[in-house]
Amino acid sequence: MAINGKTRVCAVIGDPVEHSLSPVMHNAAFQKLGLNIVYVAFNVTRNGLKDAISGARSLGLRGLNVTMPHKKAVMSYLDETDSTAEAIGAVNTILNNQGTLIGYNTDGKGAMIALQENGIYPEEKKMLLLGAGGAAKAIAFQAAQEVEELVILNRTSEKATKLAELLCKKFGKKVKGGALSAEVLKEELKTADILVNATSVGMNPDVNMSPVPLDLLRRDLCVMDIIYNPLETKLVKDAKAVGAKVVLGLEMLLYQGAVAFEIWTNCPAPVDVMKKAALNKLAEQGVTVEGKS
Ligand code: ATR
Repeated sequence: MAINGKTRVCAVIGDPVEHSLSPVMHNAAFQKLGLNIVYVAFNVTRNGLKDAISGARSLGLRGLNVTMPHKKAVMSYLDETDSTAEAIGAVNTILNNQGTLIGYNTDGKGAMIALQENGIYPEEKKMLLLGAGGAAKAIAFQAAQEVEELVILNRTSEKATKLAELLCKKFGKKVKGGALSAEVLKEELKTADILVNATSVGMNPDVNMSPVPLDLLRRDLCVMDIIYNPLETKLVKDAKAVGAKVVLGLEMLLYQGAVAFEIWTNCPAPVDVMKKAALNKLAEQGVTVEGKS
């Protein structure tokens, strides 16, 4: 698609932002559907955030993705925030709807769609979620509405119990929080159906670390790690080794992007094209699934 006077712009803002996979993913999707939209990355410092949002408004950008460190701060510069993003306290996607800037959070939906697309259905299941940071919170909000039982374990246990209390009140579902200790992990895993790692344990360069010892993993467990660098974390490799079903972090990244794409365009996202573009970019950065690149 040639850039011309009618080309619309979407962008990701963050600091740092140069390694973001969003530009290649979304540009591939816009091209595939023949949409006259381009997607770029803007490095925006904390001090520049207010002006950046004001600029996006003046320039008529169609949409934005928001990444670290602006997901929370950006909320005060928007006209509206959808109820999920409001409850989570973080925005990762903005739609410019004819001058009205609306904030969304697509991380939780992205994670739950990734599970479903891999044949893992949350109804009547117990999910064990590790972590209580920004990403974990987004997943917990969505999961609490879909699973039968949710248990959140975190190194700093108060963060997990506080989040669990909030979700219990909000959704009236069985949600429990606790410490990410060996004993609690062992106990909770016995009855868990789905395990999601939303801590940063196992992320590059600590690729030999896993939040869960191999001997606690079972064949009938579904394991998702939201880390996508490395593409296959130690947790994912261990889970595969015991015959468990696994979902890679790239899938959550892909589907949170797909949800954002649909918010901006009202078109179903061509996820295969987006996935291929993301994998190619990761390969350029030296991130590959061993033996498959
Ligand atoms: P993100 O936005 O990616 O979720 P974050 O908000 O900084 O990042 O959250 C990181 C998560 O990883 C937190 O749950 C953190 O636990 P704490 O709340 O106790 O800090 C967890 N985490 C980071 N390093 C960890 C480690 N070595 N062991 C266990 N959990 C860890």
